Amino acid sequence: MTTIAVLGAGQAGSTFARVAIAAGYDIVIANSRGPQTLKDLVAQLGPRARAATAADAAAEGDFAFAAFRYAPHDSLPVEELAGKVVLDNNNYMIWRDGNHPEVDSGLKTVHELRQEQLPTSKVAKAFSHIQFHPRFQIRVPSDALPALIRLARPAGAPDRTALVVSSDHPDAVGLVTGLYDELGFDAVDNSPLSESWRSAPGTPMWRHIVDGQSREELIRNLQRAARHTPAG
Ligand SMILES: NC(=O)c1ccc[n+]([C@@H]2O[C@H](COP(=O)([O-])OP(=O)(O)OC[C@H]3O[C@@H](n4cnc5c(N)ncnc54)[C@H](OP(=O)(O)O)[C@@H]3O)[C@@H](O)[C@H]2O)c1
Repeated sequence: MTTIAVLGAGQAGSTFARVAIAAGYDIVIANSRGPQTLKDLVAQLGPRARAATAADAAAEGDFAFAAFRYAPHDSLPVEELAGKVVLDNNNYMIWRDGNHPEVDSGLKTVHELRQEQLPTSKVAKAFSHIQFHPRFQIRVPSDALPALIRLARPAGAPDRTALVVSSDHPDAVGLVTGLYDELGFDAVDNSPLSESWRSAPGTPMWRHIVDGQSREELIRNLQRAARHTPAG
């Protein structure tokens, strides 16, 4: 049985937890305020979920899904995540997070900064361009589902879409590729983390965030990205 530490219990973390449980994973979920604030969510998620502090969740997880924004002075469970793959689904949103000069200058991507925060973990940018909420314009009833559920298709389906992964660690890319496949998506490897600006908000691939893109379209859109700052 594989346990995923879900760090962040907002829109992204809670939706990911629901989808991962449906795929057969156990979940230990955490937010910044403490497990006592997650009782209702855990009751909704059912017996395969429990709440913990971020450190306890990180210690219990075989790997982690980090669903919270980057901040330079975050205190993260570095020791508990040592040696583990950490999926980083953050996007660099200046309006929300403020400016980070290293990212704005193009020196580093926000995911390299996360890797620096977790130097003994294997950080992978993943699940960053799939929406964890309903489609803003509801055209058919399934549009009310989060895109992570709405766009999922079995392997080989003609309308299967693809998600990007970037990491400095090949085994992290392998883990994410397998997880994408299990959850209904093809994968495109856009490694290393220094290349992850190609899937940042505002890039060509980002225009397809609502209804997804095929593997071939995603590869083409990543190649078409031009680097101008900010480059998350
Ligand atoms: N929502 C989407 O559709 C979507 C799509 C792609 C990517 N993303 C990315 O996913 C991340 C989360 O977005 P969201 O929409 O889920 O935000 P959100 O609803 O505001 O949730 C953020 C969650 O992170 C928790 N948190 C903050 N710092 C933490 C820490 N150090 N350790 C553990 N938990 C922490 C918060 O806990 P408290 O409430 O206790 O402070 C909250 O549960 C963002 O980086 C966003 O760019 C979101």
